[in-house]
Amino acid sequence: MLQGTIAIPHLDRLTAFGLLAVSLMLLFYALEERSPSFVIAFAGSCLMASLYGFLQGAWPFGLVEGVWSLVAIRRWHKLAMKTEPAPAQHQNNVHAFLGELKTIAQPAGRGDYTFPKVEGGLHGSVQFIFDSPRTVTIHRLWTLQPGQGSGSQMLRTLCDLADRHGVELKLKVIPIGRKPYPMTRGQLFAWYQRHGFEGTRRKMIRTPREATHAGR
Ligand SMILES: CC(C)(COP(=O)(O)OP(=O)(O)OC[C@H]1O[C@@H](n2cnc3c(N)ncnc32)[C@H](O)[C@@H]1OP(=O)(O)O)[C@@H](O)C(=O)NCCC(=O)NCCS
Repeated sequence: MLQGTIAIPHLDRLTAFGLLAVSLMLLFYALEERSPSFVIAFAGSCLMASLYGFLQGAWPFGLVEGVWSLVAIRRWHKLAMKTEPAPAQHQNNVHAFLGELKTIAQPAGRGDYTFPKVEGGLHGSVQFIFDSPRTVTIHRLWTLQPGQGSGSQMLRTLCDLADRHGVELKLKVIPIGRKPYPMTRGQLFAWYQRHGFEGTRRKMIRTPREATHAGR
């Protein structure tokens, strides 16, 4: 008797195929979070494992692996729908919005843009966050000379640009700077409403006006 040795079973073609199938299942399952492609690859390896089960005579294994494959295909379909890029006609909306904005306001770093007055000096500044190809968040909007129409001038410009390029504007109503604020939260909320923003103070959205869209 040979003690201390491990007998390696003979690896026929079918067993090798089964080993490959379950190894691939394990690999693709571990990589699933990286891309939907690994989910569909996992579905493929389940199908291989299912085939192995049936060929080997273990039909319950083959059946269950077949069902797993269908579940993975369904999951892949859902993920693929979610990560589908925006239709081409909408991909350049924010790009075009930005392009025109740069002819009116000057980039000042960190997503800030300053709005010059025709007569010299500045109306104020706006800081943006670019969320998606169709949405721009107004993160901050401020002027150093409040109550003289500068804020309205900047907001009107942004709304006109957003309408022209089919861009949705988003913001949170939070007064910024030192107290007392030039405009309270309630006054700001009413002001944004007058410019077409809707929603709550925590989240206001302005849908671009259909009639004036350029990108549609
Ligand atoms: C918000 C801000 C940019 C507005 O700019 P502004 O130049 O002061 O505003 P405007 O003079 O153009 O006035 C805007 C509107 O508010 C009204 N308004 C201005 N000050 C007001 C006040 N104290 N009370 C009531 N209404 C007031 C104006 O009548 C005008 O109304 P209209 O749209 O009917 O014409 C400016 O006040 C500011 O910098 N505030 C500090 C930063 C801040 O809180 N930003 C908002 C972040 S969400």
